[in-house]
Amino acid sequence: MTATIGLDIGGTKIAAGLVSAEGTILAETRCDTPAQDPDRIAHDAATLIAELAGGTDQEVVGVGVACAGFVNRTGSHVLFAPNLAWRDEPLKQRLEALVRYPVTIENDANAAAWGEFRFGAAREADDMVLLTIGTGVGGGIVNDSKLLRGAYGVGGELGHMRVVPGGIRCGCGNRGCWEQYASGNALLREARELVSSGTPHGAALADACGGDPKNLRGRDITEVAQGGDPAAVELIADLGTWIGEGAASVAAILDPELIVIGGGVAEAGDLLLEPIRAAYARQLTGRGHRPMAHIVPATLGNDAGLIGAAAIAAEGIGEGPRRG
Ligand code: BGC
Ligand code: NA
Ligand code: ZN
Repeated sequence: MTATIGLDIGGTKIAAGLVSAEGTILAETRCDTPAQDPDRIAHDAATLIAELAGGTDQEVVGVGVACAGFVNRTGSHVLFAPNLAWRDEPLKQRLEALVRYPVTIENDANAAAWGEFRFGAAREADDMVLLTIGTGVGGGIVNDSKLLRGAYGVGGELGHMRVVPGGIRCGCGNRGCWEQYASGNALLREARELVSSGTPHGAALADACGGDPKNLRGRDITEVAQGGDPAAVELIADLGTWIGEGAASVAAILDPELIVIGGGVAEAGDLLLEPIRAAYARQLTGRGHRPMAHIVPATLGNDAGLIGAAAIAAEGIGEGPRRG
């Protein structure tokens, strides 16, 4: 039997999995992302690949890498990454020098969208948008059953849609990008600020990090909210409102039938999804007079990116050769 290795290189973690042709993960491993060192990112990725390849008797036919950055149209370089030190990074070539398999690279959210489209929540959809809510906000668009890449590979960078003129500075250099308000990092920033303020409202969150806001992690906020703490529930609801309102703007352009929410923060479930749906319904242009997209969680969860990257490496996305 043959299998493909999929990787997802994000702002905080590199996840890797051995993936079957049916999109099933057969084995998985991960490490932290050495975000500021492109050399080490490639080496750590190669180590994970070797670990998975060494631990299986399946024939590994290729490697697909989902990257949290702007991948060029030919899939050779990461042109830029707002939250990692990749600048015109020849990732494909660098990895192919370290492992003995052909390497395909793709934007992480595009890969996750493709994973959900092929094997997950969007299996029955032709027009879908995937949002990954993590360190940043990633966007993946499948339009008429085709992954949208744009002329130069950088289509679907939804996290950098400006939602607040003059707003918070983004890792991309601009101000007011959606990901500064709708990401896991934004949630963490808001929660830390609440703890720092010393308000009794933030007591449960303060407890979760031993009183030091720097030690607070995204997962803590979800857990405290799931335990019923009103402040944590409110923070996640505020995040959902940002996501839902932005998604309504996205729908003004793309009119998807399905909006799939993935990334670590999606693990908050309905605490996040209900506010997203409410804000979307409130903000959608022509609401009440048009069909409305369903907003659902990614069924592949946080593995959507690596599964999608593996699928793209194994079989492409059904289009002709990339140019440019
Ligand atoms: C990057 C995207 C990426 C997203 C999620 C954004 O900051 O610009 O390329 O898809 O984060 O990782
Ligand atoms: Na994208
Ligand atoms: Zn930005």
